[in-house]
Amino acid sequence: MTAVDPRAGASRLRSDQVDLRVDLGPLRLDNPIVTASGCFASGREIERFFDIARLGAVVVKSLTLEPRGGLPTPRMAETASGMLNAIGLQNPGVEQWLATELPWLQALGVPVVVSIAGKTVAEYRMLAEYLRGQPGVVAIEANISCPNVDDRNVVFACRADATREVIQQVTRVATVPVFAKLTPDVTDIAGIAEAAVAAGATGVSLINTLLGMAIDVETRRPKLAAVTGGLSGPAIKPVAVRAVHQVHQALPDVPIIGMGGVRTVTDVAELMLAGAKCGGRRHRDVRQPAGRHRAARGAAALVR
Ligand SMILES: Cc1cc2nc3c(=O)[nH]c(=O)nc-3n(C[C@H](O)[C@H](O)[C@H](O)COP(=O)(O)O)c2cc1C
Repeated sequence: MTAVDPRAGASRLRSDQVDLRVDLGPLRLDNPIVTASGCFASGREIERFFDIARLGAVVVKSLTLEPRGGLPTPRMAETASGMLNAIGLQNPGVEQWLATELPWLQALGVPVVVSIAGKTVAEYRMLAEYLRGQPGVVAIEANISCPNVDDRNVVFACRADATREVIQQVTRVATVPVFAKLTPDVTDIAGIAEAAVAAGATGVSLINTLLGMAIDVETRRPKLAAVTGGLSGPAIKPVAVRAVHQVHQALPDVPIIGMGGVRTVTDVAELMLAGAKCGGRRHRDVRQPAGRHRAARGAAALVR
């Protein structure tokens, strides 16, 4: 599939600009740089550092039906080339978010991908119902790396049948493309991606954090109050590249949003070479002019 038709709209570009548009199935973004859910909230804190409207899309922190205060502290621990977090999906709840954060994002004019998370299939479906027809919301990212309370707390995305069931319910009511965000903590990530797509997902987001744990040897206690947490950062980039590669090999036409350890535009290019259409990132140098220019060249070279 062609990510960008280099002829389409080329006349609208200045001579110093490169056409960075990417197509994720029916969803076209102006460029392949999106935020990784949870690393950006809805963007208010970050907005004073750069113009959020220039992102391909903002992927917001996962929303749940009810507001969540999150897990007890400490909720973060530094690790070699990365970090562990156990935030616990702290968020204001979908209703409050729709009332306060979405209007703010709409005013900026940036495409919004809403990440949703639930404890049951019914919760995911209800969240998707809330998002029906919301202006500015261009896609749903179903964060299915969450424990399924109807199934002994087995993470939805660890099982193909649970993945299929939850994505089927979301796509049944969604009015925008749905991306399934998968955990790398599985034996066969391509099989899980296949189940998501068979259930109606437009594409997949790869990868969520890996489950990890760290112990303070002085206190002999786990560094996180929740004991275990999600490992992220540069340490996991090879896992992300591997997961993107495996899914792309199995499902070459399925759009993949890649994330995991992205720090620089070179990291985005690496994920795109593995098969991703977009790179989700969390760190700050995306807006540095030189970096941006390099991203433009890299992405343009990757158009298929
Ligand atoms: C503090 C923190 C909070 C996160 N919250 C979410 C979340 O709410 N929903 C989600 O799908 N992923 C969440 N993630 C996972 C990221 O979106 C991303 O998939 C993962 O961190 C790998 O990317 P990175 O190495 O660039 O951080 C969170 C990650 C971090 C570090």
